[in-house]
Amino acid sequence: MPKEALSILDQRTHSTYEIPTHDGTIRAMDLRQMKTGPEDFGLMTYDPAFMNTASCRSSITFIDGDKGILRYRGYPIEQLAEKCTFLEVAYLILFGELPTAPQLKEWVAEITHHTMLHETTKKFLEGFRYDAHPMGMLTSTVAALSTVYPEARHVLDPTVRALEIKRLIGKMPTIAAYTYRHSLGYPYVYPDNDFSYSENFMNMLWKMAEPKYQPNPIMARALDILFILHADHEQNCSANAMRAVGSSQADPFLSTAAACAALSGPLHGGANEEVLKMLDVIGSKDKVPAYMDKVKAGEFKLMGFGHRIYKNYDPRARIIKWAADKVFEVTGRNAKLDIALELERIALEDDYFVKRKLYPNVDFYSGIMYQAMGFKPEIFTVLFAIPRTAGWLAQWQELITDPEQKIARPRQVYIGEGARDVVPMENRVVVAPHPAA
Ligand SMILES: CC(C)(COP(=O)(O)OP(=O)(O)OC[C@H]1O[C@@H](n2cnc3c(N)ncnc32)[C@H](O)[C@@H]1OP(=O)(O)O)[C@@H](O)C(=O)NCCC(=O)NCCS
Repeated sequence: MPKEALSILDQRTHSTYEIPTHDGTIRAMDLRQMKTGPEDFGLMTYDPAFMNTASCRSSITFIDGDKGILRYRGYPIEQLAEKCTFLEVAYLILFGELPTAPQLKEWVAEITHHTMLHETTKKFLEGFRYDAHPMGMLTSTVAALSTVYPEARHVLDPTVRALEIKRLIGKMPTIAAYTYRHSLGYPYVYPDNDFSYSENFMNMLWKMAEPKYQPNPIMARALDILFILHADHEQNCSANAMRAVGSSQADPFLSTAAACAALSGPLHGGANEEVLKMLDVIGSKDKVPAYMDKVKAGEFKLMGFGHRIYKNYDPRARIIKWAADKVFEVTGRNAKLDIALELERIALEDDYFVKRKLYPNVDFYSGIMYQAMGFKPEIFTVLFAIPRTAGWLAQWQELITDPEQKIARPRQVYIGEGARDVVPMENRVVVAPHPAA
């Protein structure tokens, strides 16, 4: 049996060290013993953007980016999307196993009874400008819930955690729908407990003067599938934000707000909105080759393409393409689909994209489908945040209950000035700005 260890020769001191390996990793702290002398702090790793650093041991989501595999708690995403509802999957992600029928019934009832917002939170939303971005409204309102539920700060109490998890999953669609209605100037629609999770969301979004809203079952199922596909994605930027903020024992509303903020960026959850803008800029199928030339010349990125982890077709993109076809049967085909298909066709054959293993990601087709369903691009990232809340909370719960975790606090390699004395104002001269300024 080969030994599970690395032998390291430190050429600086001619010392050798044996570093154990576990699960294909070494412990960064094991390097600290490698010193050049008593004054030396010890060896650290330098890994900007966490390109090769595992920050936790997790049993929630498995991704094999080279093979294009995504599983929640061991179940392939394809089977979950086909056979389960979003709330079943949220239960799985949070508690580790698929619910039995009675467990699901209780879980759905509990989530359903936490969908209402406190009236003061509704008023808080009214304070936003008419053209406020829905993601800004969502992030701020989720943070504001921390003031409505002050007991949420007792994060080490499992009963409190369980309650806040249900509140967040229940209230997220309500806040999301209210941000949408706010931007249109429509009155808010209260949750309706007769509906499923996605149907209720549609009701709060689109109900007008009719006494009872009738959600289209194909659209409701498509939305539910999209929620399943977006429920978790292991240690991405927003999950990392959730864990980093949660590690200070901030309450889950504030940690979730931090995760929402991370999600809003165009390199993360903001990408599907960017895809739509990009398709608008391209305008028609015949303009695709010229656009691709500019991408290859490095002028801009092809939005909805590429992924830090997937170096193969994103399995979620395949399912979304299928769900989008179902939606188009109801809504009619989105004209932008032709441009998207042409972009994909060229990219999958082009050496630039093939060599860099750039494939469509989850955001490439979701925006086109959302638009066909009647959503404005500004709300796309909010649609991502609703289901991802289940994943963030599972990651947070795992963090809080992991005895190995502490407050997240990376090290740095200091490259600034050495010690120097403050020069009196009258003697200061203009110097070239620091490159980081
Ligand atoms: C997702 C993303 C941030 C991953 O970034 P990353 O892992 O840091 O990958 P890199 O930026 O190192 O990319 C590697 C190479 O591919 C190129 N590349 C990556 N994504 C590209 C894209 N969408 N279009 C064109 N080129 C791209 C990079 O320019 C780089 O080329 P180089 O080696 O010649 O410098 C990146 O692919 C991207 O910005 N995609 C567009 C935004 C998007 O769709 N985000 C949603 C993610 S779900």
